[in-house]
Amino acid sequence: MKFETRAIHAGQDPDPTTGAVVVPIYATSTYAQSAPGEHSGYEYSRTDNPTRTALQEALASLEGVAEGSGGGCVATASGMAAMALLGYLLRPGDHLVIPDDAYGGTFRFVARVLGEQGVAWTAADLTDPASLAAALRAETRLVWVETPTNPMLRVVDIAAAAAAAHAAGARLVVDNTLATPYLQRPLDLGADVVLHSSTKYLGGHSDVVGGALVTADPGLHERLRFLQNAAGPVPGPFDCFLVLRGLKTLALRMERHCENAARVAQFLAADRRVCQVLYPGLPGHRGHAVAHRQMGGFGGMVSFRPRGGAEAAHRVASATEVFFLAESLGGVESLIEVPAAMTHLSVAGTPLEVLADLVRLSVGVEHPDDLIEDLDRALG
Ligand SMILES: Cc1ncc(COP(=O)(O)O)c(C=O)c1O
Repeated sequence: MKFETRAIHAGQDPDPTTGAVVVPIYATSTYAQSAPGEHSGYEYSRTDNPTRTALQEALASLEGVAEGSGGGCVATASGMAAMALLGYLLRPGDHLVIPDDAYGGTFRFVARVLGEQGVAWTAADLTDPASLAAALRAETRLVWVETPTNPMLRVVDIAAAAAAAHAAGARLVVDNTLATPYLQRPLDLGADVVLHSSTKYLGGHSDVVGGALVTADPGLHERLRFLQNAAGPVPGPFDCFLVLRGLKTLALRMERHCENAARVAQFLAADRRVCQVLYPGLPGHRGHAVAHRQMGGFGGMVSFRPRGGAEAAHRVASATEVFFLAESLGGVESLIEVPAAMTHLSVAGTPLEVLADLVRLSVGVEHPDDLIEDLDRALG
């Protein structure tokens, strides 16, 4: 079955009891047993819940994990909770490599949680194979890739990073939040684990916080399932329902996000009030060729620097009306923000510090003319 069909059907058979075509919200913490230890596969909702099972099966299918292969998905309460589960795979003395423009929350977790527990880390420019090679050590267990990165929209060659990580005896994790499996399937390119903040495009409507880890490796999947239950950062059934509902229209939404983002990027690139536009779909973007090769579209995120420095960035971000000034991304509504003062404040004063005059757009699915008119007016 094709992606669009799996998004609606994988893990989502009609409810066996009632025939409901939508997977119900199983709002239950426990399940009646016919005799001690005799149950229908569900015993306690931290361990498993049918709404969560449906979401996990759907997302595993969308990331290309074959049914019955032993690989799969574990859904988590947030993207950071997914990251925390991966953190349990590391021991003091282990080393991991992260991008030198990692999402601020990733950096905070690595530096201030894993780092304080004795895990060593190196931030490197993972768009540059030489820089990745130099960062790898005998103790490296994980290489952490985001592509495109948030908010610099750099593009990392996943197949090349996987080959380098594997040659060093490390696993490759790809944060696929910005691309989504509709545009990019890292497991097919050699990655070992895909991480999602399903708060973003997967949910797609800015009404839920969630996360997920997907792997095709049966042993790793089993360990992550164990950690999901042992540590317990699980999403509730209503949140799983919202993400599942979002998945059904992921393909449609991503098409429109990509079209709108391309229109907005072209408008900004041609405007003399803007000094730099970062969008992988622009032919002049450093990662354009790799993005063209490994993605099915260039995504809905656009970053730019208005002329006039940080003051101008703050002014533009405060002046839009259709674009809401807010953190997060990937919803149907367009959002604007200044990462250095908002989402990426936690990297201020570190080598990962974000340019103060950078404005990040999450381009929604409104009519593109309205989005361009809004930016045109806000640029003043
Ligand atoms: C690329 C990326 N990864 C992970 C996260 C963390 O996800 P969550 O906010 O759902 O915990 C975010 C959040 O903004 C993100 O942008």
